[in-house]
Amino acid sequence: MLDVAEQTASALAEPAVWRHKDLLDTDTLTRAEIELILATAEAMREVRSRPVTKVATLRGVTVVTLFYEQSTRTRASFEVAAKALGADVVNLTATGSSVEKGESLIDTVRTLEAIGADMVVMRHAASGAPYLAARHTGASVVNGGDGRHAHPTQALLDLFTLRRHLGSLEGRKIVIVGDVLHSRVARSNLWTLLAMGAAVTLCGPATLLPWTLAGRSETGSCDVTSDFDSAIEGADAVMALRLQTERQAGGLVPSLREYVAGYQLNAQRLARARAGALVLHPGPMNEGVEIAPAVAHGLASVIEEQVANGVAVRMAILYLIATARGVR
Ligand code: NCD
Repeated sequence: MLDVAEQTASALAEPAVWRHKDLLDTDTLTRAEIELILATAEAMREVRSRPVTKVATLRGVTVVTLFYEQSTRTRASFEVAAKALGADVVNLTATGSSVEKGESLIDTVRTLEAIGADMVVMRHAASGAPYLAARHTGASVVNGGDGRHAHPTQALLDLFTLRRHLGSLEGRKIVIVGDVLHSRVARSNLWTLLAMGAAVTLCGPATLLPWTLAGRSETGSCDVTSDFDSAIEGADAVMALRLQTERQAGGLVPSLREYVAGYQLNAQRLARARAGALVLHPGPMNEGVEIAPAVAHGLASVIEEQVANGVAVRMAILYLIATARGVR
Protein backbone atom coordinates (compact mmCIF):
# COMPACT_ATOMS: atom_id res chain seq x y z
CA MET A 1 0.00 0.00 0.00
CA LEU A 2 1.25 3.48 -0.85
CA ASP A 3 2.08 5.68 2.07
CA VAL A 4 0.55 9.14 2.36
CA ALA A 5 3.48 10.93 0.71
CA GLU A 6 3.50 8.61 -2.29
CA GLN A 7 -0.25 8.83 -2.71
CA THR A 8 -0.09 12.59 -2.60
CA ALA A 9 2.74 12.77 -5.10
CA SER A 10 1.04 10.38 -7.49
CA ALA A 11 -2.18 12.39 -7.32
CA LEU A 12 -0.44 15.52 -8.52
CA ALA A 13 0.58 16.20 -12.07
CA GLU A 14 3.07 18.86 -11.00
CA PRO A 15 3.68 18.28 -7.32
CA ALA A 16 4.03 21.53 -5.41
CA VAL A 17 6.18 21.62 -2.34
CA TRP A 18 4.86 23.06 0.89
CA ARG A 19 7.17 25.79 2.16
CA HIS A 20 5.09 27.72 4.67
CA LYS A 21 5.96 27.70 8.36
CA ASP A 22 2.45 28.85 9.28
CA LEU A 23 -1.06 28.79 7.84
CA LEU A 24 -2.62 32.13 8.70
CA ASP A 25 -4.98 32.68 5.78
CA THR A 26 -5.68 31.40 2.29
CA ASP A 27 -4.72 34.62 0.48
CA THR A 28 -1.04 33.62 0.42
CA LEU A 29 -1.67 30.20 -1.14
CA THR A 30 -1.02 29.57 -4.82
CA ARG A 31 -3.39 27.41 -6.80
CA ALA A 32 -0.71 24.68 -6.86
CA GLU A 33 -0.48 24.80 -3.06
CA ILE A 34 -4.24 24.59 -2.74
CA GLU A 35 -4.22 21.57 -5.09
CA LEU A 36 -1.50 20.03 -2.92
CA ILE A 37 -3.66 20.44 0.20
CA LEU A 38 -6.69 18.93 -1.56
CA ALA A 39 -4.71 15.95 -2.87
CA THR A 40 -3.13 15.37 0.54
CA ALA A 41 -6.57 15.60 2.17
CA GLU A 42 -7.87 13.01 -0.30
CA ALA A 43 -5.08 10.66 0.83
CA MET A 44 -5.94 11.41 4.47
CA ARG A 45 -9.57 10.62 3.81
CA GLU A 46 -8.46 7.23 2.58
CA VAL A 47 -6.39 6.75 5.76
CA ARG A 48 -9.52 7.59 7.80
CA SER A 49 -11.55 4.95 5.97
CA ARG A 50 -9.17 2.13 6.91
CA PRO A 51 -10.09 -0.26 9.74
CA VAL A 52 -7.17 1.16 11.76
CA THR A 53 -7.64 4.89 11.31
CA LYS A 54 -4.42 5.98 12.99
CA VAL A 55 -0.94 6.30 11.53
CA ALA A 56 2.33 7.23 13.22
CA THR A 57 3.36 9.90 10.71
CA LEU A 58 3.55 12.67 13.32
CA ARG A 59 4.88 10.58 16.20
CA GLY A 60 6.95 12.82 18.48
CA VAL A 61 5.28 16.01 17.21
CA THR A 62 3.46 18.14 19.78
CA VAL A 63 0.41 20.07 18.68
CA VAL A 64 -1.12 22.60 21.08
CA THR A 65 -4.62 23.91 20.53
CA LEU A 66 -4.86 27.39 22.04
CA PHE A 67 -8.45 28.61 21.95
CA TYR A 68 -9.28 32.05 23.31
CA GLU A 69 -12.75 31.89 21.76
CA GLN A 70 -15.35 29.16 22.06
CA SER A 71 -15.44 26.39 19.51
CA THR A 72 -16.81 22.90 19.16
CA ARG A 73 -16.05 21.54 15.72
CA THR A 74 -12.83 23.34 14.86
CA ARG A 75 -11.01 22.46 18.07
CA ALA A 76 -12.32 18.89 18.20
CA SER A 77 -11.53 18.43 14.52
CA PHE A 78 -7.91 19.57 14.94
CA GLU A 79 -7.52 17.31 17.97
CA VAL A 80 -8.86 14.29 16.14
CA ALA A 81 -6.71 15.13 13.10
CA ALA A 82 -3.50 15.49 15.12
CA LYS A 83 -4.16 12.28 17.07
CA ALA A 84 -5.00 10.37 13.89
CA LEU A 85 -1.49 11.22 12.68
CA GLY A 86 0.05 10.06 15.95
CA ALA A 87 0.93 13.52 17.33
CA ASP A 88 0.77 14.43 21.01
CA VAL A 89 -1.98 16.96 21.63
CA VAL A 90 -2.29 19.50 24.43
CA ASN A 91 -5.52 21.51 24.63
CA LEU A 92 -5.48 24.95 26.22
CA THR A 93 -8.32 27.38 26.61
CA ALA A 94 -8.18 30.96 27.88
CA THR A 95 -9.89 29.88 31.09
CA GLY A 96 -7.71 27.55 33.09
CA SER A 97 -4.40 28.79 31.64
CA SER A 98 -2.13 31.71 32.59
CA VAL A 99 -4.00 33.80 30.04
CA GLU A 100 -6.48 34.37 32.88
CA LYS A 101 -3.64 35.87 34.92
CA GLY A 102 -2.95 38.35 32.14
CA GLU A 103 -0.10 36.57 30.41
CA SER A 104 0.44 38.17 27.03
CA LEU A 105 -0.10 36.27 23.83
CA ILE A 106 3.61 36.57 22.99
CA ASP A 107 4.65 35.15 26.38
CA THR A 108 2.12 32.35 26.00
CA VAL A 109 3.35 31.18 22.61
CA ARG A 110 6.98 31.48 23.70
CA THR A 111 6.21 29.37 26.77
CA LEU A 112 4.51 26.78 24.59
CA GLU A 113 7.53 26.65 22.30
CA ALA A 114 9.84 26.28 25.30
CA ILE A 115 7.92 23.25 26.51
CA GLY A 116 8.26 21.65 23.10
CA ALA A 117 5.24 22.67 21.03
CA ASP A 118 5.92 22.18 17.32
CA MET A 119 2.60 23.59 16.17
CA VAL A 120 0.08 25.89 17.80
CA VAL A 121 -3.47 25.90 16.47
CA MET A 122 -4.93 29.16 17.61
CA ARG A 123 -8.32 30.85 17.75
CA HIS A 124 -8.62 34.42 18.94
CA ALA A 125 -11.31 37.10 18.99
CA ALA A 126 -8.85 39.73 17.77
CA SER A 127 -8.23 39.86 14.02
CA GLY A 128 -4.51 39.46 13.37
CA ALA A 129 -3.64 37.77 16.69
CA PRO A 130 -2.20 34.61 15.02
CA TYR A 131 0.03 36.83 12.85
CA LEU A 132 1.50 38.41 15.97
CA ALA A 133 1.96 35.00 17.57
CA ALA A 134 3.62 33.58 14.45
CA ARG A 135 6.19 36.38 14.42
CA HIS A 136 7.26 35.60 17.97
CA THR A 137 7.60 31.85 17.96
CA GLY A 138 9.51 29.26 16.03
CA ALA A 139 6.51 26.93 16.40
CA SER A 140 4.20 26.78 13.41
CA VAL A 141 0.98 28.70 13.92
CA VAL A 142 -2.24 27.52 12.31
CA ASN A 143 -5.08 30.01 12.40
CA GLY A 144 -8.27 28.39 13.68
CA GLY A 145 -10.19 31.64 13.23
CA ASP A 146 -9.19 35.22 14.16
CA GLY A 147 -11.92 37.76 14.82
CA ARG A 148 -13.67 38.75 11.63
CA HIS A 149 -10.56 38.18 9.58
CA ALA A 150 -9.71 34.66 8.45
CA HIS A 151 -10.49 30.97 8.93
CA PRO A 152 -8.28 29.19 6.42
CA THR A 153 -8.96 25.58 7.38
CA GLN A 154 -12.73 26.13 7.15
CA ALA A 155 -12.33 27.55 3.63
CA LEU A 156 -10.14 24.63 2.61
CA LEU A 157 -12.58 22.04 3.93
CA ASP A 158 -15.41 23.86 2.17
CA LEU A 159 -13.41 23.76 -1.05
CA PHE A 160 -12.58 20.09 -0.55
CA THR A 161 -16.30 19.33 -0.09
CA LEU A 162 -17.30 21.38 -3.15
CA ARG A 163 -14.67 19.71 -5.30
CA ARG A 164 -15.74 16.22 -4.32
CA HIS A 165 -19.24 17.00 -5.61
CA LEU A 166 -18.68 19.45 -8.44
CA GLY A 167 -15.29 18.46 -9.80
CA SER A 168 -13.63 21.52 -11.31
CA LEU A 169 -14.87 24.82 -9.90
CA GLU A 170 -13.91 26.73 -13.04
CA GLY A 171 -16.84 29.02 -13.84
CA ARG A 172 -19.06 27.46 -11.16
CA LYS A 173 -21.42 29.87 -9.46
CA ILE A 174 -21.02 29.89 -5.70
CA VAL A 175 -23.23 32.16 -3.59
CA ILE A 176 -22.16 33.07 -0.06
CA VAL A 177 -25.12 34.57 1.78
CA GLY A 178 -25.68 36.28 5.09
CA ASP A 179 -23.51 38.14 7.55
CA VAL A 180 -20.54 38.58 5.22
CA LEU A 181 -19.27 41.61 7.13
CA HIS A 182 -18.44 39.66 10.29
CA SER A 183 -17.50 36.44 8.55
CA ARG A 184 -13.93 35.18 8.59
CA VAL A 185 -15.31 32.13 6.80
CA ALA A 186 -16.56 34.21 3.85
CA ARG A 187 -13.28 36.08 3.50
CA SER A 188 -11.06 33.00 3.50
CA ASN A 189 -13.46 31.23 1.14
CA LEU A 190 -13.35 34.11 -1.29
CA TRP A 191 -9.58 33.69 -1.83
CA THR A 192 -9.69 29.93 -2.36
CA LEU A 193 -12.78 29.99 -4.58
CA LEU A 194 -11.40 32.75 -6.79
CA ALA A 195 -8.06 30.98 -6.99
CA MET A 196 -9.87 27.90 -8.31
CA GLY A 197 -11.73 29.93 -10.94
CA ALA A 198 -15.20 29.98 -9.38
CA ALA A 199 -17.66 32.83 -9.94
CA VAL A 200 -18.41 34.04 -6.43
CA THR A 201 -21.38 36.14 -5.36
CA LEU A 202 -21.44 37.65 -1.89
CA CYS A 203 -24.99 38.40 -0.80
CA GLY A 204 -26.52 40.01 2.27
CA PRO A 205 -28.21 43.16 3.51
CA ALA A 206 -26.14 46.24 2.61
CA THR A 207 -25.30 46.77 6.30
CA LEU A 208 -23.70 43.31 6.45
CA LEU A 209 -21.63 43.59 3.28
CA PRO A 210 -18.10 44.99 3.30
CA TRP A 211 -18.10 47.42 0.38
CA THR A 212 -14.35 47.01 -0.11
CA LEU A 213 -14.98 43.54 -1.52
CA ALA A 214 -17.16 44.82 -4.35
CA GLY A 215 -15.90 44.66 -7.90
CA ARG A 216 -12.83 42.96 -9.22
CA SER A 217 -10.18 41.36 -7.10
CA GLU A 218 -6.66 40.46 -8.17
CA THR A 219 -7.44 36.87 -8.98
CA GLY A 220 -10.94 37.01 -10.36
CA SER A 221 -14.25 38.76 -10.19
CA CYS A 222 -16.65 38.69 -7.32
CA ASP A 223 -20.21 39.98 -7.41
CA VAL A 224 -21.70 41.70 -4.41
CA THR A 225 -25.46 42.08 -4.10
CA SER A 226 -28.32 42.44 -1.64
CA ASP A 227 -30.83 40.65 -3.87
CA PHE A 228 -30.75 37.01 -2.74
CA ASP A 229 -33.58 35.84 -5.02
CA SER A 230 -31.66 36.96 -8.11
CA ALA A 231 -28.25 35.95 -6.79
CA ILE A 232 -29.29 32.33 -6.20
CA GLU A 233 -30.57 31.93 -9.78
CA GLY A 234 -28.61 29.07 -11.38
CA ALA A 235 -26.16 28.72 -8.48
CA ASP A 236 -24.11 25.51 -8.24
CA ALA A 237 -23.74 25.87 -4.48
CA VAL A 238 -25.01 28.15 -1.73
CA MET A 239 -23.10 28.71 1.47
CA ALA A 240 -25.21 30.18 4.27
CA LEU A 241 -23.36 32.04 7.03
CA ARG A 242 -24.28 32.26 10.67
CA LEU A 243 -25.69 35.59 11.77
CA GLN A 244 -22.88 36.59 14.17
CA THR A 245 -24.89 38.10 16.99
CA GLU A 246 -21.80 38.22 19.26
CA ARG A 247 -19.91 40.48 16.84
CA GLN A 248 -22.67 43.01 16.23
CA ALA A 249 -22.83 46.24 18.12
CA GLY A 250 -26.53 46.21 17.19
CA GLY A 251 -28.59 48.02 14.63
CA LEU A 252 -27.22 46.29 11.55
CA VAL A 253 -30.29 44.14 11.05
CA PRO A 254 -33.63 45.96 11.42
CA SER A 255 -35.35 42.87 12.81
CA LEU A 256 -34.83 39.14 12.74
CA ARG A 257 -38.12 38.77 10.87
CA GLU A 258 -36.96 41.04 8.10
CA TYR A 259 -33.62 39.27 7.90
CA VAL A 260 -35.34 35.90 7.60
CA ALA A 261 -37.71 37.26 4.96
CA GLY A 262 -34.88 38.57 2.79
CA TYR A 263 -31.98 36.22 3.41
CA GLN A 264 -33.01 32.86 4.83
CA LEU A 265 -31.99 29.94 2.65
CA ASN A 266 -35.29 28.08 2.38
CA ALA A 267 -36.79 25.54 -0.01
CA GLN A 268 -38.48 28.12 -2.27
CA ARG A 269 -35.24 30.00 -2.76
CA LEU A 270 -33.18 26.86 -3.22
CA ALA A 271 -35.55 25.87 -6.04
CA ARG A 272 -34.19 28.83 -8.02
CA ALA A 273 -30.65 27.40 -7.93
CA ARG A 274 -29.38 24.83 -10.43
CA ALA A 275 -31.02 21.40 -9.97
CA GLY A 276 -28.86 19.44 -7.53
CA ALA A 277 -27.19 22.57 -6.14
CA LEU A 278 -25.31 22.02 -2.90
CA VAL A 279 -26.05 23.63 0.46
CA LEU A 280 -23.19 24.40 2.82
CA HIS A 281 -22.93 26.03 6.25
CA PRO A 282 -19.80 26.26 8.43
CA GLY A 283 -21.82 25.70 11.61
CA PRO A 284 -22.96 26.34 14.20
CA MET A 285 -26.33 26.95 12.53
CA ASN A 286 -29.12 29.20 13.71
CA GLU A 287 -31.79 27.00 12.20
CA GLY A 288 -34.84 29.04 11.31
CA VAL A 289 -32.73 32.20 10.93
CA GLU A 290 -30.14 32.00 8.11
CA ILE A 291 -31.23 28.53 7.07
CA ALA A 292 -34.56 26.67 7.20
CA PRO A 293 -34.36 23.33 9.05
CA ALA A 294 -35.77 21.47 6.01
CA VAL A 295 -32.88 22.78 3.88
CA ALA A 296 -30.22 22.28 6.56
CA HIS A 297 -31.17 18.61 6.78
CA GLY A 298 -32.44 18.16 3.24
CA LEU A 299 -31.04 16.19 0.31
CA ALA A 300 -28.98 19.08 -1.03
CA SER A 301 -27.20 19.61 2.28
CA VAL A 302 -23.54 18.60 2.59
CA ILE A 303 -23.19 20.22 6.00
CA GLU A 304 -22.38 17.00 7.87
CA GLU A 305 -19.91 16.06 5.16
CA GLN A 306 -18.17 19.39 5.68
CA VAL A 307 -17.59 18.47 9.33
CA ALA A 308 -16.29 15.00 8.44
CA ASN A 309 -14.04 16.36 5.68
CA GLY A 310 -12.66 18.88 8.16
CA VAL A 311 -10.66 16.14 9.86
CA ALA A 312 -9.00 14.99 6.61
CA VAL A 313 -8.22 18.55 5.54
CA ARG A 314 -6.71 19.42 8.93
CA MET A 315 -4.68 16.21 8.86
CA ALA A 316 -3.34 17.33 5.48
CA ILE A 317 -2.38 20.76 6.79
CA LEU A 318 -0.67 19.42 9.92
CA TYR A 319 1.15 16.87 7.78
CA LEU A 320 2.34 19.41 5.18
CA ILE A 321 3.54 21.85 7.82
CA ALA A 322 5.34 19.05 9.65
CA THR A 323 7.02 18.09 6.39
CA ALA A 324 8.19 21.68 5.85
CA ARG A 325 9.57 21.73 9.41
CA GLY A 326 11.44 18.54 8.71
CA VAL A 327 9.96 16.89 11.80
CA ARG A 328 8.98 13.71 10.06
C1 NCD B 1 -17.23 29.43 12.16
C2 NCD B 1 -16.29 30.27 12.98
O1 NCD B 1 -16.12 30.05 14.17
O2 NCD B 1 -15.73 31.14 12.38
N1 NCD B 1 -17.51 28.19 12.70
C3 NCD B 1 -16.62 27.19 12.59
O3 NCD B 1 -15.43 27.34 12.73
N2 NCD B 1 -17.13 25.99 12.25
C4 NCD B 1 -18.41 30.14 11.73
C5 NCD B 1 -19.27 30.79 12.76
O4 NCD B 1 -18.98 30.82 13.94
O5 NCD B 1 -20.29 31.29 12.34
